[in-house]
This record gives sequence, structure tokens and C-alpha cells, in this order.
Amino acid sequence: PIVVEPPLMASAAPPVILTQDELKKIAAYKAVEFVESGMVLGLGTGSTAKHAVSRIGELLQQGKLHNIVGIPTSKITHEQALSVGIPLSDLDAHPVLDLVIDGADEVDPFMNLVKGRGGSLLREKMVEGACKKFVVIVDESKLVKHLGGSGLAMPVEIVPFCWKFTAKRLELMFEEAGCVGKLRRFVGNGEPFVTDNGNYIVDLYFKRDIGDLRAASDAILRLAGVVEHGMFLDMATTLIVAGELGVTVKNK
Ligand code: 5RP
Repeated sequence: PIVVEPPLMASAAPPVILTQDELKKIAAYKAVEFVESGMVLGLGTGSTAKHAVSRIGELLQQGKLHNIVGIPTSKITHEQALSVGIPLSDLDAHPVLDLVIDGADEVDPFMNLVKGRGGSLLREKMVEGACKKFVVIVDESKLVKHLGGSGLAMPVEIVPFCWKFTAKRLELMFEEAGCVGKLRRFVGNGEPFVTDNGNYIVDLYFKRDIGDLRAASDAILRLAGVVEHGMFLDMATTLIVAGELGVTVKNK
């Protein structure tokens, strides 16, 4: 838990203790303030984006928003959005979106992101690449100095065909950074995790800095067998962070 003491509450009142999920909800609700009636809206995936989807549904139910068209970034968000009454469409019908709200796994000081630890990176990148405004919502634990430096996974979506070959090629590509690639598997039965697009995910772990992110991105995408990776470079336009000192909104 993180202690939140808004500066204006410098009284004898005890500090409010918020869980990580409550911080995610604060960031999500703040982002929904950017939503206006009539918008074509990208709906992100994950435990933070889920709060935004619920809130949009609530505002539609209350008649405070009208004529929203949602474009979900995963099958799970599709289900959730339908369950809260958001009318849905897709990129074929709406190739330009007004706004997308989504979470992230890592955010660097330039608003570059790692996404996809929830497995939806391909659809997220397609939807977020088609919007006018991309609002990223995180709790402060997601802020990093360098992408891939947190010791956590950098996801790469690959085709299942000869996945070991592709995973090995990815490791060799980042040998100097001490890269280890692990096929993502379901915890229960150990079967490979399969994305909404029928692909596998190799999670890359780095011991050292991977250096130039754009060069790394280009190299990964040039490898046959790779479908997409989880680096979202220069895509976010607004960052909302909920943390110890309250919520901050930063525009690029
Ligand atoms: C899913 C994602 C999520 O946005 C990312 O994993 C953050 O998830 P959460 O909000 O649950 O921390 O990229 O593919």
C-alpha cells in the first residue's frame, strides 16, 4: 500500500492508504474526463484500463455521455465493454480514433512504453497507432528510467511455427545485453499462452541496457517469425500517473 497525503490535507486527519488498484482507478477516472460525447474511443486492456471501461459504461448509463463508439484492444475488453453497455465497432469501420485510454507496464521519461504483459500488444498497437490522442494511465510503480531495465519482461508476439528458433534468434540479437527469452505459458497447465490472434509470446529479459530503442525495435520487426513487440515508442500523447502525491497529467 502507498500512503497518499494530498498537500491540502495537512491536518490532524490520518493519511489515506490506497492500494495499487485504487491508484489505477484514480488514474483511469482522470483519463475518462477527456472523453466527450460522439467520440470514437479506443478501449485498452488490463487491470487499469478495466476501470476506465467501467467508468465509461457508467457515464453512458447515467446519460452523461452519448454516441460513443468503442474499439476494443482485446477479446476480454470486448466482453467487458459489451457487459457495461458500450456500443462497439472496429478499425475497418473507424480507421481514425479520437482517443484511446490504456495502461502500460513501463513508462520512461520520454513517454515510451512497454506494453503487452497482459498479452494484447498487437491489437493495442494497431488501435493506438490509429488515434489522435493516446492517454496512458498508470500507478507510479510503472515509471522507469530505461525500458527493459526493470528486470521484467519485454513481450514479443511471434508465430507458433518453430517458436524456439525465433526465440533463439531474439536472444542472439540482444546477446550483449544478456538477453534471455522465455515462452509465455499458462501457470496452471504449462501450455503456451496463445494471444487473441493465435500467436505465442516470448518474454525477453535483459541483464543490461538494450541501448537505442528505435534500433532495437527495427531489428526485432525485421526478424521473420516476429509479429509485433511491446515497445510503444513515441506513441503516447498524455500520461496520467496516480501515486503518493496525488494524480499528475503530463502532455507531450
Ligand atoms: C496488456 C497491456 C496492459 O496495458 C499492461 O500490461 C498494463 O496492465 P495493468 O493495467 O493490468 O497493470 O499492455 O497487453
